[in-house]
Amino acid sequence: MKDQNAIGIIGGSGLDRVEALTIEGSKTLDTPYGAPSAPLIRGRLGNSSVLFLPRHGSDHSIAPHRINYRANLWALQAAGVREVVAVATVGGIHPRMAAGSLVLPDQIIDYTWGRESTYFDGLAQPLQHIDFTRPFSAVLRERLRRAAELAGVLLVEGGVYGATQGPRLETAAEIGRMARDGADLVGMTGMPEAALARELGLEYAMLAVVVNAAAGCGDNLEAISLQQIHETSARVMKDVLRVLMALGEGG
Ligand code: HPA
Repeated sequence: MKDQNAIGIIGGSGLDRVEALTIEGSKTLDTPYGAPSAPLIRGRLGNSSVLFLPRHGSDHSIAPHRINYRANLWALQAAGVREVVAVATVGGIHPRMAAGSLVLPDQIIDYTWGRESTYFDGLAQPLQHIDFTRPFSAVLRERLRRAAELAGVLLVEGGVYGATQGPRLETAAEIGRMARDGADLVGMTGMPEAALARELGLEYAMLAVVVNAAAGCGDNLEAISLQQIHETSARVMKDVLRVLMALGEGG
């Protein structure tokens, strides 16, 4: 059965499970690219019908560079999803992106390497070049903006997401370079996820949860506290859920 109106939600660190989700079933899918990170969980979140996929697996064991992004996006599309909201934890580089804030990025710089990053590689499918000038869906970004307004959650609108390889965090010098490049946020999973969604014609947008000041920024001049990351993540994920619930009401 296809879930034509379901919103696909890809959960990241801190959102491997959605407790508020009323689970209606799950789908274990295989794809031409292998298995996705986990079975898709079908359920309701407020008024929204959703298909949830934990990017790092149900037990949070898949490192960012080992995630099968192609299988994940393919599975969501095969299940009938047209819109994908990617929830991703990030470090804040720009002072406007303080720890605890929720951001709706509008641009990407890709620093990752060695990942399977296209369906159109001339092997399984013919070579094709896609337009990626605006990497996130304007329509879905606007829906998320309205949902946040409805839920009374403050959203920082716009920002450049820099995707790094991980799983280690960055050096202060790497973040300095990214800041000079114009990156406002740093995370490990936005690419190739966003590009693959575009190749499949999916509406894709990201809710970026700032869980720490990036290396060498703010109070994190010497080190980043992983404990603090977990605490901030748990706190802001509550806002994320309120936005996702309102998404089904905002039209
Ligand atoms: N860097 C990269 N990815 C992240 C960070 C960070 O500081 N925080 C959360 N995800």
